[in-house]
Amino acid sequence: MLVIWVGWGQTELGEFIKRSFTYPNLSLVDDMMKKHTTFTETKENGINRQLIKKTPPIQKNFIDEYLSGDCQAVLSAIPNDTFDLIVTSPPYSDSRKNTYGGVHPDKYVSWFIPKAAEFFRVLKPTGTFILNIKEKAHNGERHPYILDLILSMRKQGWLWTEEYIWVKRNCYPGKWPNRFRDSWERCLQFNKSRKFNMYQDEVKVPVGEWAKTRLKNLSKTDKTRDESEVGSGFGKKISNWVGRDQVYPTNVLHFATECGNVGHSAAFPEALPTWFIKLFTKKGDLVLDPFAGSGTTALACIKLDRNYTMVDIMPEYKELAERRLANEQNKPKPD
Ligand SMILES: C[S@@+](CC[C@H](N)C(=O)[O-])C[C@H]1O[C@@H](n2cnc3c(N)ncnc32)[C@H](O)[C@@H]1O
Repeated sequence: MLVIWVGWGQTELGEFIKRSFTYPNLSLVDDMMKKHTTFTETKENGINRQLIKKTPPIQKNFIDEYLSGDCQAVLSAIPNDTFDLIVTSPPYSDSRKNTYGGVHPDKYVSWFIPKAAEFFRVLKPTGTFILNIKEKAHNGERHPYILDLILSMRKQGWLWTEEYIWVKRNCYPGKWPNRFRDSWERCLQFNKSRKFNMYQDEVKVPVGEWAKTRLKNLSKTDKTRDESEVGSGFGKKISNWVGRDQVYPTNVLHFATECGNVGHSAAFPEALPTWFIKLFTKKGDLVLDPFAGSGTTALACIKLDRNYTMVDIMPEYKELAERRLANEQNKPKPD
């Protein structure tokens, strides 16, 4: 403890203690030590360790900016608790080797976890992290690296709050010897706390045709609250929905894949970040996409009056994104 005191100021130590209580699972010692200190070891006896304070350069301009570089390094210069939402689609394991490189499935967790530690640090306690990802088949079976990643992120302090399934509405047919064509991807939701911002009314959907028949002749049970049999606390009262034309959606999302030529081989459809931005942020909030590619998330932010920070390791994607964003900003605004 004495060693920590030498390296940190009182404020940092206070913050460390506060955050350790708030996120008991997070190995903050390692994290904070790496971030704020550097070791020098005397060669004479090899045990005389001395901590030297390291001041990371603070990234001043990151609001509505597209920053080039490795997201872990770029984010290390951004203050704690900055973003309201992180929504992103990282490189999937081993895919896209010919463009921006791939990570072997066995190494995916160790590649991702240090980045996830930075995401945790820069996300506000009320914020949400949406991770769009899909495991590939490897040696004839689904590789479990995403399941391993979820477990490792939970150890890091994340709550695995929900999982949305993105169904690719326009998936074309195909034939494989041992499986059918992939037509869905995971959108994993992680939070730092059970109390996070969520604006459910912003993503309501039309009630649908089913209501015409299902709500026409209500049974006795439909008119009382039907408690969940498994004791989850969730119940339903069908008659509550009579006369409504908008209802809450399910956790299965139907969006067409990106077909337009945006110049990036793995762009997600704008509808995907748009949906999560509406659900988890309000106007003026700040959204991070640490694997920003062609800037689809920024485009959605501009249209929804949110602020953004985009990061990507490939400088050419910054140019591509800036062209896309400029096109959007130059469009005549509706009266
Ligand atoms: C699946 S693509 C994201 C596409 C994006 N959602 C879009 O709509 O264009 C993943 C991106 O991660 C970037 N990337 C890979 N490793 C990175 C790293 N360490 N830090 C930041 N970006 C990285 C790649 O250059 C690639 O553009």
